Amino acid sequence: MHARVTYLDNAATSFPKPPEVADAVARFIREAAASPGRGGHRLAVDADRLLADVRAAIARLFRIAEPRRVIFTLNATDALNMAIKGAVSAGDHVITTVLDHNSVSRPLEALVDAGMIALTRIACGADGVIDPRDVAAAWTPRTRLVAMTHASNVLGTLQPAAEVGRIVRERDGLLLLDAAQSAGVVEIDVEALGVDLLAAPGHKALLGPTGTGFLYAGPRADLHAWREGGTGVDSESRTQPRDFPFWLEAGSANTVGIAGLRASLAWLAQRGVAAVAEHERALLTRLVDALSAERRIRVLGTPDARRRVGTMSLLLDGLSPADAAAALDASFGVAVRAGLHCAPYAHRALGTFPDGALRVSPGPFSSAADIDLLARAILELCEV
Ligand SMILES: Cc1ncc(COP(=O)(O)O)c(C=O)c1O
Repeated sequence: MHARVTYLDNAATSFPKPPEVADAVARFIREAAASPGRGGHRLAVDADRLLADVRAAIARLFRIAEPRRVIFTLNATDALNMAIKGAVSAGDHVITTVLDHNSVSRPLEALVDAGMIALTRIACGADGVIDPRDVAAAWTPRTRLVAMTHASNVLGTLQPAAEVGRIVRERDGLLLLDAAQSAGVVEIDVEALGVDLLAAPGHKALLGPTGTGFLYAGPRADLHAWREGGTGVDSESRTQPRDFPFWLEAGSANTVGIAGLRASLAWLAQRGVAAVAEHERALLTRLVDALSAERRIRVLGTPDARRRVGTMSLLLDGLSPADAAAALDASFGVAVRAGLHCAPYAHRALGTFPDGALRVSPGPFSSAADIDLLARAILELCEV
């Protein structure tokens, strides 16, 4: 066991998880870890029910009309690749933003390099928010997809998804929303936002185990198959069954992880998305207040906590983010994330490339004492 670590890197993956998650994983692997299969033995039927339960829980949380359109993935990256590479065809134009993570920008750049698509990357303001009018201005007759993050993983800033959704629908394109930093801390209604494709990890604010995530593939998005293989149904069919979820979901599912995700979604439903978000925002406001007198500290992006999820980046004058993070870990036992956060275009836009910034992201189990320790540690580092 590590000595106690004050973990403030929940934007990477949430820790700790609700205790029910570990219990559910252990129980499932001890008692019921069969592969789902229709019409199979009782354990296979139980595993099938587990997948159906979790699809239904995800559908409730994100107001998805058809749970079968929830596709289990390994993480958000897997879901984003499935959506991006499944949605576009040769000659398409795609719009993305400088705030997007490499798991959006790298698949897109790979398609550019393959000569498949043309790409426009729109800017953000100094507040770390894009202007939806830039999406409208970038639109061309060949635009097929807008792929954008819902909340910046560097700044935590919430993006105007509903306005972009309206613009995309008016022009009959597709909106892919990367909810890696918002699923679990922002109320998301895919229809109200005009989202055709929603990609999210299970292991961040949904509080499930790593190896879980999902893609919602709405009816307007006719995706190419992602991988072909066994589905446990329609085995006589020569090719991949067109029915959802099987069109996009082949191979043995991560039932162990999904058992944990069922427990975390139940915990979240009970606690409430808004309550978790409020808790994390209050902690960051406490941090900003504690550091506000120190002029050598700069908070990046909007200072308005209501326009952010519980993620924020800082710069300390005279101390590189990497050195600050190393000192926080070594001397204070505080885990935060330095560097580019897999978002190089965001840091270029903010003028913080290549060193990046120091990112702080509390979770539902972080406390005011954790934040006070971090604040004291940062102030001490500024003294040196
Ligand atoms: C905005 C954003 N998108 C995508 C990802 C990728 O998520 P995953 O690690 O689940 O693949 C992350 C992870 O940090 C992220 O912050």
